[in-house]
Parts: sequence; structure tokens; C-alpha cells
Amino acid sequence: MSLLEIKKAGDPVLKQKCVEITKITKKTKKLLDDMAETMYANDGVGIAAPQIGESIRAIVVDVNKKRYDILNPVIIYREGSAVDTEGCLSCPDIYGEVERAEKIVLQYLTRYGKIKELEAEGLLARCIQHETDHLDGRLFIDIAQNIREEKNHKKRGADSVK
Ligand code: CO
Repeated sequence: MSLLEIKKAGDPVLKQKCVEITKITKKTKKLLDDMAETMYANDGVGIAAPQIGESIRAIVVDVNKKRYDILNPVIIYREGSAVDTEGCLSCPDIYGEVERAEKIVLQYLTRYGKIKELEAEGLLARCIQHETDHLDGRLFIDIAQNIREEKNHKKRGADSVK
């Protein structure tokens, strides 16, 4: 595995709509492993492929010590709404409050090509919504309230926990 460079806000790759994955190759699996390693090394709980410069629909999340490798995610159900603080590995030291659905059902493809559904709530649901937004070129700072710079932030964010 290898650590990848995280693209920062302002990089055009973060504004692009990512393409669906039609074939899962060794390269796809290596990319997912590298994304996970990069996410863990930066204390993140989620990462999306465009954040490491790949414009494909792949995300990795790990909120409660369970890693999900998620390809072609589609949120098929949303319920409720909740506001919480988010951060992003692509926007260091920037935080803001974002309103998201409280509960979601996600349909996706696993790294082994199986179609799965995942019910999520709380931070996992928030993280998946944040990462899925990345695949459509949307950053949390595009939709957050009270955007601010904070060094040494302790509260868990969506893809940054710093
Ligand atoms: Co992010």
C-alpha cells in the first residue's frame, strides 16, 4: 500500500462529477487500499476517490472500526435531518455545520462486485453523505453554515476527525 497526496480545495478534480465504475480490477482494489491507508494516516473517517485525484465513484469510510469500501454509491432512502459539525481532509482546519439526513439507506457495489444495501444513521450516515457529495463535485464548504478556521479542533467531523 502507499500513501497518496490529498488534493486540497481549489483543485479542479474536486469539482468534477466522477464516473461510474464498470469494471473492478486489481488497480481498483489497490486504489481502495491506498485510499484507506491515506485516510487512516490523516485521522480521517472517510475519503473519496477525487480527494486523491481519481475521478471515479469510489469511497472508503470507517466510523466505528469497520471499514466499508463502497463503489457506485446511491442513497436510495433518506429520513429525518440533523445538523452537526463537519471537516474535510481537503479543507484543513476548516469547520462548519451541515444539515444532513439522519438516516439513510445506501445501495452500492462491494470491491468484490456484489450489490449491497446498508442502513446507516448518525456519524456513519453523515460521513457517507459527505463522501457521496464529493463524487458529484460538491464539498461541505459549498453547503455548510458558520464556516470557520480552527486549529486543533477536537470534535469529530465527517471525513476529518481533527
Ligand atoms: Co471531504
